[in-house]
Amino acid sequence: MVLQKATNIVWHDGNVSKADRENVLRQQGVVLWFTGLSGSGKSTVAREVEKRLFEAGHLSYVLDGDNIRFGLNKNLGFSPGDRTENIRRIGEVAKLFADAGLITLTAFISPYRADRDMARALLGAGEFIEIYVQCPVEECEKRDVKGLYKKARAGEIKEFTGISAPYEEPLSPELVLDTARETLQEASERVVKHLADRGIIRQKG
Ligand code: ADX
Repeated sequence: MVLQKATNIVWHDGNVSKADRENVLRQQGVVLWFTGLSGSGKSTVAREVEKRLFEAGHLSYVLDGDNIRFGLNKNLGFSPGDRTENIRRIGEVAKLFADAGLITLTAFISPYRADRDMARALLGAGEFIEIYVQCPVEECEKRDVKGLYKKARAGEIKEFTGISAPYEEPLSPELVLDTARETLQEASERVVKHLADRGIIRQKG
């Protein structure tokens, strides 16, 4: 829990509501929260979903772990406390983006269940869609796209998720993707279908 530090502040609502924005955009502002090991495919699937949504005329935005750590979260490392703060901030940013009416995709390892639940609790019912990007650590290590598993094994990176730091699997995610078996096309197709089935995206026209 982060304490409220500022006092004498007052919440203001605007004249345009979330529902008004959603009507214009013909979509619901939601958060697609991708979670999984480094190299599991979170960013890749999120980017593919973003592209498919864009081509169908829907507005979305990807918040990506590595990228956000260059800016907003540049003062955070990978200790449990810093990871929690990383996810807390992203949960709040994602909430703002969803309030703007955007289909907001987040691609963070987010290894702790409690942190993901904290992000979920910030959003309304049905607005937080947890997507577990499942992939065995052996497969992620084999891919080793960024060469980080090798460094972690060599002890050059401490507290590396899946090697020397924990990853807590989601207990009841809305969607599970199996990137060791599914192709990128299949996985992203399933995400878009989930959105259509739930009426989160509506046909343009
Ligand atoms: S999280 O655990 O706080 O959610 P986040 O998704 O922001 O992590 O960042 C993970 C990315 O940082 C990884 O994909 C990897 O490129 C890089 N990274 C660097 N050090 C570590 C580490 N110790 N553990 C995991 N990822 C790391």
